[in-house]
Parts: sequence; structure tokens; C-alpha cells
Amino acid sequence: MTRRISLTQYLVEQQRQHGRIPAELRLLLEVVARACKRIAISVNKGALGDVLGTAGSENVQGEVQKKLDIIANEVLIEANEWGGALAGMASEEMDGIHVVPNRYPRGEYLLLFDPLDGSSNIDVNVSIGTIFSVLKKPSDRPEITVDDFLQPGSAQAAAGYCVYGPQSTLVLTVGDGVAMFTLDREQGSWVLTADNVQIPADTQEFAINMSNMRHWAPPVTRYIEECLQGRDGPRGKDYNMRWIASMVADVHRILSRGGVFLYPWDRREPGKPGKLRLMYEANPMGFLIEQAGGAATNGRQRILDLQPTQLHERVSVVLGSRHEVERVTRYHAEADR
Ligand code: AHG
Ligand code: MN
Ligand code: MN
Repeated sequence: MTRRISLTQYLVEQQRQHGRIPAELRLLLEVVARACKRIAISVNKGALGDVLGTAGSENVQGEVQKKLDIIANEVLIEANEWGGALAGMASEEMDGIHVVPNRYPRGEYLLLFDPLDGSSNIDVNVSIGTIFSVLKKPSDRPEITVDDFLQPGSAQAAAGYCVYGPQSTLVLTVGDGVAMFTLDREQGSWVLTADNVQIPADTQEFAINMSNMRHWAPPVTRYIEECLQGRDGPRGKDYNMRWIASMVADVHRILSRGGVFLYPWDRREPGKPGKLRLMYEANPMGFLIEQAGGAATNGRQRILDLQPTQLHERVSVVLGSRHEVERVTRYHAEADR
């Protein structure tokens, strides 16, 4: 019989043998995984669990909140605030930071999350997910402020996501490669199903919302037009397109078989750098993608090098197979010259 390795065992080994993570971070990641399990159960109930539809409210970014956005946010807060590993949390669905209340001990980590990614897919039974990022509190001061969260992605201690699709899969990095765990519903545990995940450097698959084509900047248009010309164009090969409209699901496909994902700046809202959020989406995904041998930029700079100035900051995103990301980034540099 092949030996099954649980998430708990994987994390204990990371702590004990590789010395990669302190016990406090291990406990924190286990709690996040437990929260994702609870969210997976709610997602699966669908219409039977009264979790579909809108909540009748808006988040700080002016987006209509779905019931599941709020449920997932509450599950993550409730699960994480009493464990002792965290000092505070920040979420796409909360205006400000959530400081761990005084009645609980405060730890040295900060947790940031997109509780429910792919909200437009909830009601149509298409894959959605939870994305999370872990930072270390920069100072020893007991009080924390927004500034403590404004660290570049390169400072992340861990990052991951859980995709709620045909299977629920938790994907994690603690800076030592990328591992995937599949939820075994009968046992109620996360089981290691892929380790040392690697993204091929080349691909013939791109993911972008093509309906925005007329709003793109020239380097993005150039890249996609060349892909569309296929075998007859400068790339000399045919490309396939996928767009799930859940970043988690698109990134999961890219980690599984390669590809490139773009959510670029566009002219619909020229004042915003992009649609996706640096702290809850781009940074954790950028960390995972780099740990799997891929690349992640905003078209010009490495995502993980960007110094955030606001909690809910937006960013343009190009990530996935290394050679394609380098090409898109080069096209931006050429256009800038
Ligand atoms: P969220 O549901 O957390 O707001 O994120 C949705 C994001 C991302 O997951 C996805 O890639 C993108 O928005 C889809 O945007 P379009 O609907 O513009 O294609
Ligand atoms: Mn999202
Ligand atoms: Mn979301």
C-alpha cells in the first residue's frame, strides 16, 4: 500500500527535518487548512445550504458581496483569531485590518486573504477558491497597524490557496517548493497528492479576458495577437485559450500543466493599475508560481518586489510559464523605450 502523507505530517516534517517553519507557523497553516475544509463543505452544499446569491452589501472596493464571500470571510476570522499564532488579519472583504481581540493571545504572524475568489462563478457551479498569504509582524510592538501589513511579497513566510472544484485541493508553499493536498472527505483530512510542483517554461495556452481586448495597452495586444496568429505568425505554433474567471482555478491549471495568465491594466479604469489585488491575489500567487519555477510580473517589475502602499492596492498581473512571462515583460520594456 502506498503511504499517505497528511498535511499535518508534511508540516511536521517541514518543521522538524528541514527546519523551514517554526511550530507557530505550522499551527497557523493547519488552522487555515481547517477553515478551508469548512468553506469547502459550505460550497458543496450549494442551494441546499442557503449559501448562493448576493448578500445585499458592497465591499470597500465597491463590489457586490455574495453570501459566500461573507461566509468564507467569517469562517477564516473565527478559525484563526483564537489560536495564538496571529496578531492580525486583512481581507479583501473587510475595509480595515482585523486585530486579534485582547481576550486572545497575540502571535507574531499576519494573515491576509481573498476569502472567496471567483465570486461570479459561485452561483453557476464553477470552480472557486480561497487565497491566503502569511507575513511576519515586523516589530515587537504588541499593537499593530495597517503599515505592518504593507510588506513586499518577497517577505511572505507562506502562501497558498484552496480550489473548490470537482476536488478540493489545497496548494501551499513555505518557500521550499509547492505541494498539493487533496481533501479526503471520508477521512476529513488533506492528503499530499503532488510535491515539488514544476511549471514548464514553455506553453501553448494563454488565459486572458478577451472581451477587454479593445481596452488593452499595445504590448498586451501585441502578445495576444501573435498568439492568435498561431502557426502562421511569429510564434510558429498554435495557441489554445482558457478563461475560468476564477484566478485560483486558472492558476491551478497553470501549476498543473503550464500556461500564462494575464489580467493587465486596461482603459476601462485607467486610474487603477489593474483589477486584481496585490496583497490578497497577486502576491500569494506570485510566490507559488515562482516556487514552481514560473515567473510573475506586473508587465514591468517582479510582483514580489513591489512595495505596497495601501492594503487594497490593485496591480496588473502576468504570471505562469517563465518564457511567456519574460516575453510579455520584454514587450512592455520595448514599448516603454
Ligand atoms: P473576486 O471574486 O475575489 O473578486 O476575484 C475575481 C477576479 C479573479 O478571480 C478573476 O480572474 C477575475 O476577477 C475575473 O474577472 P472578469 O470577470 O473581469 O473576467
Ligand atoms: Mn479574487
Ligand atoms: Mn474575493
